[in-house]
Amino acid sequence: MLTGMGIPRRSQTISRALLLPAHKKSPTYQRWHVAPRNVPSNTALRYYTATPRNMIDKNTCPPLLSFTESLRGKSYLVTGGGRGIGYAITRAVAECGANVTVLDALPEPVPEFHKLASEFGVKTKFFRTDVTNPSMLESNFERSVQEMGGLHGCVTAAGIVEEHPFTDYPVEKLRRVLDVNVVGTFLTTQLAAKHFIRNSIAGSIVLIASVSAHMVTPNRKLSAYASSKAAVRMLTTAVAAELGSSGIRVNCISPGYINTDLLDNVRKIDPDSVSFMDRAPHIGRIGQPKDISAATVYLLSDAAGYSHGSEMIVDGGVLGGIFKDPRDL
Ligand SMILES: NC(=O)c1ccc[n+]([C@@H]2O[C@H](COP(=O)([O-])OP(=O)(O)OC[C@H]3O[C@@H](n4cnc5c(N)ncnc54)[C@H](O)[C@@H]3O)[C@@H](O)[C@H]2O)c1
Repeated sequence: MLTGMGIPRRSQTISRALLLPAHKKSPTYQRWHVAPRNVPSNTALRYYTATPRNMIDKNTCPPLLSFTESLRGKSYLVTGGGRGIGYAITRAVAECGANVTVLDALPEPVPEFHKLASEFGVKTKFFRTDVTNPSMLESNFERSVQEMGGLHGCVTAAGIVEEHPFTDYPVEKLRRVLDVNVVGTFLTTQLAAKHFIRNSIAGSIVLIASVSAHMVTPNRKLSAYASSKAAVRMLTTAVAAELGSSGIRVNCISPGYINTDLLDNVRKIDPDSVSFMDRAPHIGRIGQPKDISAATVYLLSDAAGYSHGSEMIVDGGVLGGIFKDPRDL
């Protein structure tokens, strides 16, 4: 709190401020950019981030410390939630006390899925769905809304990877990657948006993109996948622009390297590549599916009420570039 800074330090700040150029004397600049000297770092952090009480609008300010609570009792839908990152998100949503439906092409989700309802006292449903099939997607989407009694948020995690050298990329494989990753994401987002608009719900949609939208992975032939994820990234911005005035929020998360079945093929073709993914992130390890779930819950929650059209990168620092000597990776 500003008042916690103590009178001497505060007057030091004010006297320093008198020597500043005009624009730096403004209360806003002072509040955000001028910290007193000799202040412990946690106090300085609070100084920078504190919002004066008279600036808090009780109608719009999110409940920061209880953001997971804002999901309780609501209903969510996760495509690709049958395993991997999508399942971790499904579990996290259930853990927040929300009902959750999974639409996935798998015949069955991971066995743990069936325990979520009793473990967290929520409703769960699994509908086998190919997100590239518009009529199947729509009918299972509607079934979910019926059985859950509504929908408040949606996560599109269904995705595939196909690796082929660019010059030999088979056109049918290219089409499949774009169909699942882009068209499937597009159609799911469209269904969710239409539902929210029809029912005047300020829903939240989270698209799963990838750091591949921004960077290449050494030795991997990911031209189709990378293009598809760049499309998801930009889809987020374009849809957010169209839907913002309706109160619907649309954001995306770009995971770095996450240890899931999706990496199994890479592991088979090139184990060195997985070893690179283990060591390249600055944080010193490959990501786990649950590394993505807290970020997703945040974006679904009321606490993210001013996040819109944004990309949250959750990558252990890999997008920052290779820090070590590449020969050591
Ligand atoms: N694992 C990573 O390193 C990584 C990194 C960045 C982004 N991602 C993205 O995260 C998402 C989840 O990936 P993951 O690593 O958990 O992979 P995964 O293969 O474990 O899970 C993907 C899920 O999508 C489902 N799916 C595939 N095609 C589908 C279709 N046509 N219709 C419905 N469901 C379909 C699969 O059955 C599977 O359950 C994907 O969009 C992926 O591109 C993954």
